[in-house]
Amino acid sequence: MIAPIVRNVAELREKVRGWKMSGETVGVVPTMGALHQGHLSLVKAAKEGCDRVIVTIFVNPKQFNNPEDLENYPRTENDDAQKLAPLKVDAIFVPDGDEMYPGGFSTTVSVTGVTEDLEGAHRPGHFDGVATVVTKLFLQTQADKGYFGNKDYQQLQLVKRLARDLDIPIEVIGCPTIREEDGLAMSSRNLLLSDRARIIAPALNEAMVEAADRIKAGEDVADVLAQASARVVAAGFIDVEYMELRSVGTLASLTTLNEPARLLAAANLAGVRLIDNIAVEKA
Ligand code: PAJ
Repeated sequence: MIAPIVRNVAELREKVRGWKMSGETVGVVPTMGALHQGHLSLVKAAKEGCDRVIVTIFVNPKQFNNPEDLENYPRTENDDAQKLAPLKVDAIFVPDGDEMYPGGFSTTVSVTGVTEDLEGAHRPGHFDGVATVVTKLFLQTQADKGYFGNKDYQQLQLVKRLARDLDIPIEVIGCPTIREEDGLAMSSRNLLLSDRARIIAPALNEAMVEAADRIKAGEDVADVLAQASARVVAAGFIDVEYMELRSVGTLASLTTLNEPARLLAAANLAGVRLIDNIAVEKA
């Protein structure tokens, strides 16, 4: 059975009120649709952790710094609803632009610190757009728990920060990155890859896994990162925007592996921007 599709906030609130009156816990899985197994893994975690689950689908214009990227972003609502059917979610919230940002909308939620470089440096305005929409989704759904992927590691840190800073009573839960068999992190953007680009794409993760092993083995971090970037370009990517070792949580830059770390990268492949990150921790 297809879950009820809710398009306005008032109707959503009505449903949530009923659930909460019965003492049920509510989980939310925010997405921009074009659902894949990565998204579905979050939904499964939410089903295990909550009585009721809301999946939101909204291609948020405020977080796209590039109009072409917004236009090309895959929109597959019917397929998405089909994919969610076996998981038996309680509502799919699909607001349109006017419902989310009615005329006169003038508020921006902006998180400093964790958002300032990496994705923040390469996508101006992106994280303000994410912070604003996620805050709204938290308040609209009044969820007890929100599920997010490690795939967007910097975004996950931002969401944890804003919930704490704004006293939003929600537990933010980070979930593992789901990958294709060849290691490519699942992403809605993978649908935009040509057949040729799809063959090249796993090179990003391969280079990162190798780099993480070498860093763990004690090799010089800067040398290893430079070689990993070069390897990605040699495989056929146009460029590597960043390939960096960062501290877990704060995302502060690291030049040696003296604390639990994350290797984060973004690279362009034939007009498609791919990001990935993996843990780097001493054995
Ligand atoms: P979207 O890219 O659709 O991702 C929705 C959620 O799915 C995010 O929490 C993301 O980290 C997670 N996700 C994506 N690919 C994943 C994978 N391979 N494995 C595990 N989780 C994965 O991220 C957004 O949308 C938006 O910025 C949003 C938070 C919805 C705000 O608009």
